[in-house]
Amino acid sequence: MDNNMKKYKLPEDFILGAASSAWQTEGWGGKKIGHDTFIDLWYKATPELWHNGYGPAVATDFYNRYKEDIGLMKECGLRSYRTSIDWSRFIKDFETGEVDEDGAAFYDSVINEMIKNGIEPMICLEHYEYPAALFEKYGGWGSKHVIDLYVKYAVEAFKRYGDRVKIWFTFNEPIVLQTRTILDAQRFPFKQDTKLAMQWNYNKILATAKAVEAFRRGNYGEKAGSKIGVVLNPEMTYPRSSSAHDMKAADMFDLFYNRIFMDPAVKGEIPKELFEVLDLHNCLFDYTEEELEVIKKNTVDILGLNLYFPVRIKARNSAWNPEVPFHPSYYFDHHEIQGKRMNPHRGWEIYPKIMYDMAMRMKNEYGNVEWMISENGMGVEGEDKYKNEDGVIQDDYRIDFISEHMAWLLKAIDEGSNCKGYMLWAFTDCVSPANAFKNRYGLVEINLEDSRNRKMKKSGKWFRELSDNNYFYFRDLVPVYK
Ligand code: BG6
Repeated sequence: MDNNMKKYKLPEDFILGAASSAWQTEGWGGKKIGHDTFIDLWYKATPELWHNGYGPAVATDFYNRYKEDIGLMKECGLRSYRTSIDWSRFIKDFETGEVDEDGAAFYDSVINEMIKNGIEPMICLEHYEYPAALFEKYGGWGSKHVIDLYVKYAVEAFKRYGDRVKIWFTFNEPIVLQTRTILDAQRFPFKQDTKLAMQWNYNKILATAKAVEAFRRGNYGEKAGSKIGVVLNPEMTYPRSSSAHDMKAADMFDLFYNRIFMDPAVKGEIPKELFEVLDLHNCLFDYTEEELEVIKKNTVDILGLNLYFPVRIKARNSAWNPEVPFHPSYYFDHHEIQGKRMNPHRGWEIYPKIMYDMAMRMKNEYGNVEWMISENGMGVEGEDKYKNEDGVIQDDYRIDFISEHMAWLLKAIDEGSNCKGYMLWAFTDCVSPANAFKNRYGLVEINLEDSRNRKMKKSGKWFRELSDNNYFYFRDLVPVYK
């Protein structure tokens, strides 16, 4: 053993596992079961934008291979696994909330199989599997009627699986879909409408509060002692400098992309600065005082945070083009720092201290709420070239990535942050939004040339040891640049 290596111990009862989602793994099952999701709609409209055409149609074929996969989860030492229920597959009639019994039976089997193998199921109600029909009929999450339909769906899921699921999440990254599609127009349906995007944000905040309210009112968590929360993707935001203009720019980014969801989920309040600034730019969402009261009274039990990379912000040095409608970037610009560590495949900066900084933020600014890392991981292209003679991918870079991020997280836990776990993205390689199978995240390889066969990577074995030992070795953390 290298003398410079240090032992890092995980807390007892630490949640350790991996995540994925329904649409990124299940596939359509050979013949389509259930309705189309919004993602299916997007894939069908623009298959050419998905790397090599891979998409949700087959994904990893988890729908047919879930037993094999759950066996592999056990081999990798996962204590928990997060996936989502596909709303479009689980519900037959969106208006009445009538359940599709075939869809429901599938999730029943998956949950039972996990439990049988000693793996805690963690269930998310929407990981972008928004029903295509609701998008076509109501224009998506901009409609308040959709909130009621979502709550009906949530209640059906609580009723079916509430006795066995201990952690529920209302959404995965509720800001993402509308940001990519309606705010930044990068994806189908390529629309730019800031006010509408803000309405989607608000409606999902309200939907979370209403689902939490329904969960508590129906006592659906009583039997299993379950908790309910939301998975957010706040981006740890660093200003270019400590000068007032850069600090203000970073605060504005933080307001529009982080606090907008974190504050209502944990503190029960949408920041008043957000109301003011949206009003100023005529982009304020429709809300009522009664709805704000529901948000206030129904904060989450636990927060899941997906953390991958830092965001570096500076004040704009160009004036806003008055012919362009308002966008949050009116207030800031992204900043490039020299010498940063990069994941060149994904184009994301690697800065593991985000774990510590966000953890301390939870402790100091969010009442030390119970929270967990619900996603963190490294997507790498062309992993075939790292195969050894037995065909096992030697992904030491992933082991290093996880170790360093986890080491920073453990430091924050030592200092009192109430973090309960770490979930890797992802268990197997899977279909990613538009990246398709380009960047691989898994502990387990999906071989596309060989019938999607599974093979554990070196990191899968390492993860198993981590889980068995409850500690790992890694070098001492060194001070980092700001
Ligand atoms: C997370 C999402 O933000 O990032 C996942 O919850 C996604 O759905 C993951 O797959 C990795 O991002 P990408 O774009 O590389 O797949």
